[in-house]
Amino acid sequence: MNPIKVGLLGIGTVGSGTFAVLKRNQTEISRRAGRDIVVTMIADRDLDKARTLADDNIQVTDDAFAVVVDPDIDIVVELIGGVTVAKDLILKAIENGKHVVTANKALLASSGTEIFAAAREKGVIVAFEAAVAGGIPIIKALREGLTANRIEWIAGIINGTANFILSEMREKGQSFETVLEQAKLLGYAEADPTFDIEGIDAAHKITIMSAIAFGIPVQFDKVYVEGITQLTGEDIRYAEELGYRIKLLGMTKRTKKGIELRVHPTLIPSQRLIANVEGVMNAVVVKGDAVGATLYYGAGAGAEPTGSSVVADLVDVTRMQTADPMHRVPSLAFQPDLLSSTPVISMDEVETAYYLRLRVIDKPGVLADISRILAQSDISINAMVQKEPTAEDNVDIIMLTHLTIEKRINEAIVDIEKLPVVTGHVVRIRLEELKND
Ligand code: NDP
Ligand code: HSE
Repeated sequence: MNPIKVGLLGIGTVGSGTFAVLKRNQTEISRRAGRDIVVTMIADRDLDKARTLADDNIQVTDDAFAVVVDPDIDIVVELIGGVTVAKDLILKAIENGKHVVTANKALLASSGTEIFAAAREKGVIVAFEAAVAGGIPIIKALREGLTANRIEWIAGIINGTANFILSEMREKGQSFETVLEQAKLLGYAEADPTFDIEGIDAAHKITIMSAIAFGIPVQFDKVYVEGITQLTGEDIRYAEELGYRIKLLGMTKRTKKGIELRVHPTLIPSQRLIANVEGVMNAVVVKGDAVGATLYYGAGAGAEPTGSSVVADLVDVTRMQTADPMHRVPSLAFQPDLLSSTPVISMDEVETAYYLRLRVIDKPGVLADISRILAQSDISINAMVQKEPTAEDNVDIIMLTHLTIEKRINEAIVDIEKLPVVTGHVVRIRLEELKND
């Protein structure tokens, strides 16, 4: 059988990892796919870089549009990134009847609906395993392995850079800036690392997983996003003392009111497996009604781990491309005409527990004032610790609350900050028990 011909757009971190995996494991991959899968064209702005990888059988160009219209190409692999040129290239490839494999979560979270509709119209496949959690086959698991389940919630450490920063800060006491520079050098960070540290990249990924889990449209504009830039070493340490780790968590949950969709730093009990996921590793817990909680763990970024997912998609597309489009696995797991209109609820309505840190003047009656405000808002306290006074006679009080509604805690914080004995702002970090019930 003729080989499947691949046009590779972008030979940066993931592009070179994909190329290396495909070349090294060519025989195994062909045995699995039933056909050889060969890269015949590479496009990159840096022609010299592309030429150092390519052999004489591979055409190298700096014009990615020449690849997506080339009649010989069967599958276009988009590994350029960004939401402008990459989108034009993918739509053009689809228009020209090419299947597409991409790792571009930013693009799918913002324009997934349009791209999947265009692909359906043309009867081609858009595969995107590498877009969520790097090398972990979480899309496959959600879309196929868990298909019997009514998914209840997903919680994921889905940004390797942010997790790497939090781990290094906690374990080695390194500064935020130093670790971020290392993540950039190691190829983990996005072209714009703000995406990593402000939670935007994790928001792209949880948006995609939420759509697949609940059969709702991809709605990046509805996700609540808070990054890790405001976290202090102090809170990481206090959380540790209370038996919790702070992680940047992507969370999506089915509730009676609608779907929760959020990314923020989160305290997780340290005995949970996911709380012990360190460095660039990612992990996703999926709670299904039949199977219970399942955990998926692995490298969330980097050249070959992400290349592993890209190549898996190439094999999938090779196997499926001859199947009737009606009988392929739907891109977002549910049949496109059977999507649900369940709304994504606002952050104000989200129910979770909280870690609060208050700096107060060390004098009698302070705790009573704070407890009164919390009680008035119907917020009950689960645990409380008072730290040693500072030289200025200030003390840090740490409180863990039971479950409450975000709107209530925000209102209570406004009132607490008005107390004359409270100095500075109240630190509020959400807390999830992630129990298997
Ligand atoms: P890189 O920046 O390392 O690679 C992108 C490559 O594409 C670069 O060589 C770049 O050249 C080239 N390029 C950019 N624009 C064009 C263009 N118009 N025509 C031709 N070539 C172009 O990015 P990554 O490999 O890290 O990321 C690629 C995609 O994979 C992104 O969508 C990213 O979000 C996603 N991803 C990345 C992961 C990772 O671990 N890095 C993991 C999972 C997903 P130049 O350098 O000159 O700009
Ligand atoms: N910048 C991303 C991360 C790459 O750090 O997780 C993987 O998607």
